[in-house]
Amino acid sequence: MSSPDNLAGAPDLAYREGALVMEEVGVAAMAQRVGTPFYAYSSAYLERRYRAFMAAFGGEALLCFAVKANSNLGVLRHLGRLGAGADLVSEGELRRALAAAIPANRLIFSGVGKTEAELGAALAADVHQINIESEAELSLLSEVAKRVGRTARIAIRVNPDVDANTHAKISTGRSGDKFGIDLARAPEVLRRAKELPRIEPVGLAVHIGSQITSLAPFETAFSRVIDLLKALRSEGIALTRLDLGGGLGIRYKDETPPSVEDYAALVMRLTRGLRLELAFEQGRWIAGNAGILVSRVLYVKESTARRFVIVDAAMNDLMRPALYEAWHEIVPVAAPESKAPLAAVDVVGPVCETADVFAAGRLLPPLAAGDLVAFLSAGAYGAIMSSGYNSRLLVPEVMVHGGEFAVVRPRPTYDEMLAQERVPLWLL
Ligand code: LLP
Repeated sequence: MSSPDNLAGAPDLAYREGALVMEEVGVAAMAQRVGTPFYAYSSAYLERRYRAFMAAFGGEALLCFAVKANSNLGVLRHLGRLGAGADLVSEGELRRALAAAIPANRLIFSGVGKTEAELGAALAADVHQINIESEAELSLLSEVAKRVGRTARIAIRVNPDVDANTHAKISTGRSGDKFGIDLARAPEVLRRAKELPRIEPVGLAVHIGSQITSLAPFETAFSRVIDLLKALRSEGIALTRLDLGGGLGIRYKDETPPSVEDYAALVMRLTRGLRLELAFEQGRWIAGNAGILVSRVLYVKESTARRFVIVDAAMNDLMRPALYEAWHEIVPVAAPESKAPLAAVDVVGPVCETADVFAAGRLLPPLAAGDLVAFLSAGAYGAIMSSGYNSRLLVPEVMVHGGEFAVVRPRPTYDEMLAQERVPLWLL
């Protein structure tokens, strides 16, 4: 079996006396209390990752956790207390960050399609920085800022036209992608920004994609942005901030992403002597391997061609395999015997779609109805992308802290599910 970095030597998820344990809590005990499926996150892992990132930069960086990766209030509060800021892309995320008591001066509002109301909310909260992705958005922000009498500190998000060599659906920095403003146009936009009322240009931002597993695309993109920053400075646009986005990849299977130390060394080499405030928007690197999705085997079914392991989690709970053909390691919660034979199985959920497959032809030890399994590396873009498809209840989330755990999003009841909707009066 391959080993994502949460099972490889880290104490946060390991087999102890034959059973999978997260920190000091048995996964089976959580399943007993919460029911399956559910997500569990390790506080210790999140903390270790946050501290490792900051240490790599000698403490001289603002890490704005990408809330889109995991927006649970417990997770945000935990990271916020450690000193993290938040990278936001909607008013909902802004409200979550504020509810988690993350200070406004650590909030960056990004996103390609912010509404007027969202720009107003960001100004009202007085966020640290708003990242601008189009000229039209810049004009609108100036209008809103004039109206409310606040000055917006902005960074221009540039599109450096760099291929991040990642899955096409999560690549954002090629010139045909919808994100950012073309590098060549950026100077003009900044000159205009300087003249606009209530707009204070403070920096540049870049984010070229997610799950990036080599330094080369980062180096190309960052170099282009830094050259631009220097050119702007030489014409008197004194930018002081650089937001280098997120995107640092993690190990799901056998990827070998760069270490955070090497990533930091690259950034420090490129920015040396420039006296810049650095910000980052990592999501997956912080949370990905902090979480697991726990599920129970419902049935094992043999067809002529395949053996199906049907579990009670489905594509609506963890969309990544169906959407991006993503690999998530699957491990039994009860440690298999060391000599247990591996057999190729298809691990599938109950949803009525052929895409509801977590793994096809996966080599796993014997599994039987009632067994618990854990999908690893599910702490980022897991619960957050879940839905109620097939009228399945939204999957609950649990946070583990040493020997204790807390349900940080309970499973709704069927009555709560039904209470969200209304039958129109003419049908009553
Ligand atoms: N900043 C911006 C502007 C972004 O668009 C993203 C991710 C991030 C930061 C955080 O990227 P990270 O550090 O997590 O790689 N649902 C997909 C991933 C979508 C990423 C979208 N943008 C998945 O499950 O793989």
